[in-house]
Parts: sequence; structure tokens; C-alpha cells
Amino acid sequence: MSLELNDIYVDIAATTPVSKVVLDEMLPFFTEIYGNPSGLYMLSQESKAAIEFARDKVSKVINSKSSEIIFTSGGTESNNLALKGFCSNKIENNQNEIIISTIEHHAIIHPAEQMTQIGYKLNYCPVDTNGIINLDTFKNLINKKTKFISIIYANNEIGSLQKIKNLVEITRIKEKEFGTKILFHTDAVQAIGKIEVDVIDLGVDLLSISGHKFNAPKGVGALFVKEDLYLEPLLDGGGQERQNRSGTENVPSIVGLGKAIEIAETNRVEYFNHTNELRLKMIDLLNENLPKSIIHSSFDGLPNILNFSIPNIQGEPILIALDFKGIMASSGSACSTASIEPSHVLIAKNVQENIALGSIRLSFGLTNTLEQVEYIAQSLLEIYKDLTK
Ligand SMILES: Cc1ncc(COP(=O)(O)O)c(C=O)c1O
Repeated sequence: MSLELNDIYVDIAATTPVSKVVLDEMLPFFTEIYGNPSGLYMLSQESKAAIEFARDKVSKVINSKSSEIIFTSGGTESNNLALKGFCSNKIENNQNEIIISTIEHHAIIHPAEQMTQIGYKLNYCPVDTNGIINLDTFKNLINKKTKFISIIYANNEIGSLQKIKNLVEITRIKEKEFGTKILFHTDAVQAIGKIEVDVIDLGVDLLSISGHKFNAPKGVGALFVKEDLYLEPLLDGGGQERQNRSGTENVPSIVGLGKAIEIAETNRVEYFNHTNELRLKMIDLLNENLPKSIIHSSFDGLPNILNFSIPNIQGEPILIALDFKGIMASSGSACSTASIEPSHVLIAKNVQENIALGSIRLSFGLTNTLEQVEYIAQSLLEIYKDLTK
């Protein structure tokens, strides 16, 4: 099924379509410039050059060196490579600890939990009711056994933004105090194209990117790895990506990622202003039409994510009814829509379980309009009346 003209897609945080310009850039690499980048002849060298061109584009957007970018299959692999790649070869007599926040994506929570099986202690840093980490709480969690910290930059469910720069500064002070080295990773999958992401300014060692969140194809991503850091590869073989990620490169998708990140950065300010206007309008209409609704997103978070609950109604019937009206939204994280568990992110910010079960996430993009927002608000009111009849 393809999108009808009147369909309204407000699930940008789950995924985005590949844009026409991005697709056009990719197409020759399927059929014409198909050489294996490891080959020596011209066709291969063209593929190789295209990968390096894309690497350059990614590095320019996040202000890193080109050589600090490793292409992966997406955000999940980038997160796994950062965490397991560092932690799996650093076991010192159960003396190692990891810190992650309670609102990480499962692509960090699950690998971090796995590390406890090889002797790591996992510490969760809590968030406040706005979904933000308290700097003192964070500081008190770091000790001389802390080796790895991963804190999500922009949360995918509620859009809360962490003060990554401050958290890194605290980490560096603690390193000096203990005379240790602590790696700091951030999952910036939802941040790219929405807010500025500058690895030098943030001071992070590792940063994850996923293409399909900003109009590149699904199944391609990148990991920024600060110069001179060694990660144990997840995949061994031909030694591509400077020994960090074996396997013949996904050239068309890497080319698409390069083009898409460049466009996302060019449009970043416009994107911010436009989606923020839509979000604020939606909040006004919710307050007007459904005054009992509870907003879970922070006002100073990502501009494009609005997460809310309508008390006494579960999220699922609302989403199904919205779908009947041509509106595509989600509840909590896309990766856990099959589950009826309340979102761990909402529970972490102290939302009651029955309210969390009713959460709806609207995530806007450049193509959404104020008229669509009005239609969504009107539809929600009708659905509310139907469901509470
Ligand atoms: C914050 C965050 N991290 C990681 C991921 C996983 O990325 P991918 O789908 O590219 O594996 C997602 C995707 O939903 C995400 O939102």
C-alpha cells in the first residue's frame, strides 16, 4: 500500500521516506558504478571515491575528521559497536562499570545488559519528570571503576535533550580525579538534522547516527569514533572500514546517507522552526479540545516530537482509529509497538503506568502542515467521543 494524497504521516521519528534527490544520487551505484570498492580497476575506484565523498559529508556535518567516521548498518549497529566494541575487551577482575540513562533506546539498554554477563556492573542514571538528567546525580554515579558512559542526546519517544556537553565536562573532571580513562558515547540518532551536532563542542568520544531518520535509506548509519580509539569489531572478515567493520560496503546507501545528511543540515533551522510551530499548534488544540490530555514531551526538547496521553483511553485503539482517518502516528518507540508494556521512558520520568499505556507520539516533518495538525486535533476529539460513549 502506498500513501494516499490525503494521508497524514506523523511518525517521522520512526522512519522517513528516501527523498527523490537522495534516491537520484544513489541510483547509478546500483546499476552503473557497481564496482567492489576494494578492487583496483576504475569502476571500483569510483565506488571507493563515492564512499570517501560521503564520509567527508558526514564528518563536515558533525565537525569530525573524515577518518573518524565508520559506516554501519544503522543506529542499532553503531550503538552495539560503540558499547561492545569497547567493553568486550576491557575486563579487569570485575572492576568495570558502565553508566547509561534510564531513557536509552533498547539498542543501548540491551547490549549494556549483555555486558553484565561478562562482569560489568551496569548503573542507570535516572531522569527528572521532564526526562532530563540531573548533573549532580550523574556526577555521583561516576567512580574509579567507571569505564564507559552512554547517554542519549535526543530521546526518540519524548524528545528530551540531554546536556551532553556538561555531562562530558563532569566526566573529564572525574577522570582527572581518579586518574582513569572513561569513554563517553552518545546516541544522536534523533538529533541529526534537528539540532546542531558538533562532536568537538560536545567533547564525546563516540556518536551514533542512523540514515533512515533523515531521508536516507533504512539499513545504513555511521559511528563517529574519536581518533586513536580502538574498538573490537563486531564483524570480522575482509577488514573494510579500516578494519573496523568487515563486509563489502553498501555503496548506494552510503552515498544516500552522505547526500541526506548534507540536506538535513542545510534545512536544519527551517526544520526546527516549522516543526516547532506545528508542535505548539497541536498543544494549543489539545488544550482546547481535550483539556485533560497530559503532555509528556519537554517544551525545550526536540521541536518535532509531541508525546501525550488522553486519560482513561489506551494508546492502541486511538492509533487504530487515527489510521482509519488516514493518520499515521505511533505510541512510544516504534521498536516496541508490538508490546503492551508501558514505555520504559515514560515510567522513568515518573508517568503512572495507566497513563503511560495511553501515550501517543506525533512526530512532524517539513512536509506536514498546520491544516494537517488541525485535522489531527479534530480527529482526536471525534475518536475520544466515540471511545468514551
Ligand atoms: C534513539 C535511537 N537510537 C537507535 C535507533 C536504532 O536505529 P536503527 O533503526 O537505524 O537501527 C533508533 C531507531 O528507532 C532510535 O530512535
